[in-house]
Amino acid sequence: MSDLVAVIIPAGGSGERLGAKIPKALVQLGGKTLIEHAVANLAPVANQIIVAAPAGYEATFQDLLGSEITIITGGLTRTLSVKRALAEVGKENAFILVHDAARPLASTELAMRIIDSLRAGEKAVIPGMPVADTIKRVDEDNYVTKTLTRSKLRAVQTPQGFTRKLLIKAHTSPDDVTDDAGLVEDRGVDVKVIAGEERAMKITTMHDLATAERMVIAQLDNQMRVGIGTDAHAFSEDPTRSLWLGGIFWPNQVGVDGHSDGDVAAHAICDALLAAASLGDLGSNFGTSDPKYAGASGSQLLAETLTRVKAAGYTINNVAVQIVGNRPKIGPRRAEASFALSQALGGASVSVSATTTDGLGFTGEGRGLSAIATALLLRSPR
Ligand code: CTP
Ligand code: MG
Repeated sequence: MSDLVAVIIPAGGSGERLGAKIPKALVQLGGKTLIEHAVANLAPVANQIIVAAPAGYEATFQDLLGSEITIITGGLTRTLSVKRALAEVGKENAFILVHDAARPLASTELAMRIIDSLRAGEKAVIPGMPVADTIKRVDEDNYVTKTLTRSKLRAVQTPQGFTRKLLIKAHTSPDDVTDDAGLVEDRGVDVKVIAGEERAMKITTMHDLATAERMVIAQLDNQMRVGIGTDAHAFSEDPTRSLWLGGIFWPNQVGVDGHSDGDVAAHAICDALLAAASLGDLGSNFGTSDPKYAGASGSQLLAETLTRVKAAGYTINNVAVQIVGNRPKIGPRRAEASFALSQALGGASVSVSATTTDGLGFTGEGRGLSAIATALLLRSPR
């Protein structure tokens, strides 16, 4: 039997209790919509993803999520939205996860534990959390009819996992339920509850949205981000052109052609830093068309890059750069170059290495210099 997984994400609600002017799934959380979060978190386990969008928002959802996601029009209730999505599930999928867009931060790891349990033979698996409040049943006049034993209660979350055949059968019922497991229970099938997670919380009110926002920020704090950058310049035909490399001046060496001082090491580091912070690249930040940066030194570009990286909320953990070329000989001045680059970056750790390329390529033929750099950034706690 195949063990592929289809993911259904009901997102067809309007989010009345949240009170935004747009459907709840399109509300922003930490720079992305709720539906984008939900899709991103479940995509790693999914062979197929079907999203039920509110009527009229199908194209918006498709644009946002891309062509690999199947978008259908949601129904009047969550149950109807799931039923419509079920019709699109491919038969190659052995299992189906149903996951509310209203729980955007539920982790991939939770989805994987649900699937592990299905693969081990369970037919229906749902995440549940212990409840903090004592729960009582009341009658129409608000008199308590029963006090439930708290230790035996679970607040259930999504994603909920089922074998495809079971879920399809369960949904032949006309009942309207708040979760899919309810329909499965009604058929007398065992539903297994596994440990849920705080972050799979449901966003219903503005207060919930603020709580989720805090969770996203906590995730971003101390996050590591790696970036890579390269640069290359040809040695100049002009014998008077001076060489700047690794933030230092090299006397008696012919320099390279290029916009600015042509310091390939500094430029590669700038690109690595900008990439790590998702800030674009040298060209998009300090384009040749901007007179402000014409003739800018490598050190100036590094300092300006550092300012931008910091403004985006990052600190530099370390930078490594490798210079590729036949000349100049880096070894004797390696420490000097590291120090200069580090100073330009506010004292960050910068290591400099160098290599030749065995006579191969433009660097091996002595026609120019190149450099490759990596940078590791840490998200500064806010
Ligand atoms: N849902 C759906 N189709 C509906 C109603 C709800 O697909 N007709 C989805 C919602 O988009 C949500 C999930 O079911 O992802 C759980 O519903 P809920 O949290 O109640 O969301 P809304 O119905 O949008 O919110 P409200 O009840 O406050 O209007
Ligand atoms: Mg609702």
